[in-house]
Amino acid sequence: MEKELLMIKEEVAELVNKAVDKKALNELKVYFLGKTGKLTNLLKGMKDVPAQDKPRIGALVNEVRKFVESTFLSKEECFAQKELDEKLNNEKVDITLPSKNMKKGALHPVTSMTDRLVDICVNLGFTVVDGPEIESDYYNFEAVNTPKSHPARDMQDSFYFTENILLRTQTTAVQARAMESMKPPFKIVVPGKTYRNDSDATHSPMFNQLEGLVVDENVSMADLKNMLSIMMKRLFGEDTLIRFRPSYFPFTEPSIEVDVSCPQCHGKGCKLCKDTGYLELLGAGVVNPKVLDYNGIDSKKYKGFAFGIGIDRASMLFTNNTDMRSLFKNDIRFLKQGR
Ligand code: DAH
Repeated sequence: MEKELLMIKEEVAELVNKAVDKKALNELKVYFLGKTGKLTNLLKGMKDVPAQDKPRIGALVNEVRKFVESTFLSKEECFAQKELDEKLNNEKVDITLPSKNMKKGALHPVTSMTDRLVDICVNLGFTVVDGPEIESDYYNFEAVNTPKSHPARDMQDSFYFTENILLRTQTTAVQARAMESMKPPFKIVVPGKTYRNDSDATHSPMFNQLEGLVVDENVSMADLKNMLSIMMKRLFGEDTLIRFRPSYFPFTEPSIEVDVSCPQCHGKGCKLCKDTGYLELLGAGVVNPKVLDYNGIDSKKYKGFAFGIGIDRASMLFTNNTDMRSLFKNDIRFLKQGR
């Protein structure tokens, strides 16, 4: 029996090595290990081995069985790996092949303008925050120095739900929220939707603003002008000219409006700038000390400056668009201008 076991070992090693495919290997497995296989049959003879030889032969049997089983197993793994390699090779996708004229989507021009502005501000150290579009009269007006009787409310024809709840007319509403919850110094920008009862070629009842607010110990109109110049140049190009005009907003004192040289005609005059060479882009100013104090920031210690940009208008300047309504028509030829 000992001899036969050793012979089987040799035979398995040789035949398994020669097996050409999975099928041949399976047949061999049945031949040696099947119910009536060669090794199986031999092992049945174990019971006839004399008792004193049993430990020795038993150990040999175990060794041979382990050897046979592991030989089959490693050959099986070898075939499986080969099969997988072949499959992967055949299924290879050539990613260098040109695609079938896939239409690429683009961001809406207003979204890409929002991204540009936010990127510029984040680069200048601003943090992005947001606030609710359904807002209280308190945050939208009262807390930014525009009490109920204030004539400046007339400039913003508002959509009210109840006497005290409205669709915010300006992202300036978030200024008061930020002052309440943040500790100065801070620099925030608030991009978001705003609403007013206005609808024509240059006004939409829903539009987008980007509010900026800086509160610190030593900030002034000079810092505001410098920051706005940097922003406008980054947005429209280094050769952009900037013009500051005195203006009025209840929440800033002094207040300014900022014009930029027309990005289409570079100041020469065209349809977009109505031949003026400049375009009105944003309102800004030094935060009225009343607003700071009202919202819990000591105006003796802290100063602030703020600005509010109409994002839709800025995007229209960029795409030489004179009709705001085209922003909402979803005409694919128009939308393709986004990036
Ligand atoms: N909230 C103003 C508006 O909607 C824009 C604005 C002007 C915002 C001056 C400001 C500011 O923060 O300082 O017309």
